[in-house]
Amino acid sequence: PALLRASSPELARRLRGLALVRGGFVSEREAAELLREVEPGLGRGRYQSDHWDRAITGYRETERGLQGGAGRELLLRVTPAFPPRRPPRPSAHVLDLLPEGHVGPHVDSVKFCGCTIAGVSLLSPSVLRLRSLWDPQDWLELLLEPGSLYVLRGAARYKFTHEILPDEESFFGGLRVPRGRRVALIFRNDPPGENP
Ligand code: OGA
Ligand code: MN
Repeated sequence: PALLRASSPELARRLRGLALVRGGFVSEREAAELLREVEPGLGRGRYQSDHWDRAITGYRETERGLQGGAGRELLLRVTPAFPPRRPPRPSAHVLDLLPEGHVGPHVDSVKFCGCTIAGVSLLSPSVLRLRSLWDPQDWLELLLEPGSLYVLRGAARYKFTHEILPDEESFFGGLRVPRGRRVALIFRNDPPGENP
């Protein structure tokens, strides 16, 4: 519960089970192995800005990265967060954010992404903020420590934007969360109507 803050107890209740975070989902040893596996796919240098789908700066990304043993293992361990008939795609979206990079508020495209998003954060802590599309006063913040897992589903995925706060705004309540380089492995399922 200390990893989650909400604009009101009502909102926390409304999103219970739909937006969640679990610290210590991967050990430091697994994290090192995962980084070793995904790093080659990210290429060298060449961080970019802006993306057609979401406001994002200071990042590199790739969609292939589960060749190795730790990646496959992680996929198996996040699969229970997905509906049995809508499992995660067999590849992870690997997002490498510079300390000065951020992900602006957006909703993942319903064309390319199904009902559930699960993200594992490595290296640097960060704050993931959700904000209601209906009422911007309604927000939820998740403290993403290295090795943590977060899951967004249902209303938290469709009715709220999500963003990774830039360093200068990176606070969790009174707690300053200094941003370093952060690598996230993000698992998604297909939208309904595809590969039924
Ligand atoms: C995204 C996104 C969040 C994260 O790439 O669409 O929301 O955990 N990323 O990096
Ligand atoms: Mn997203």
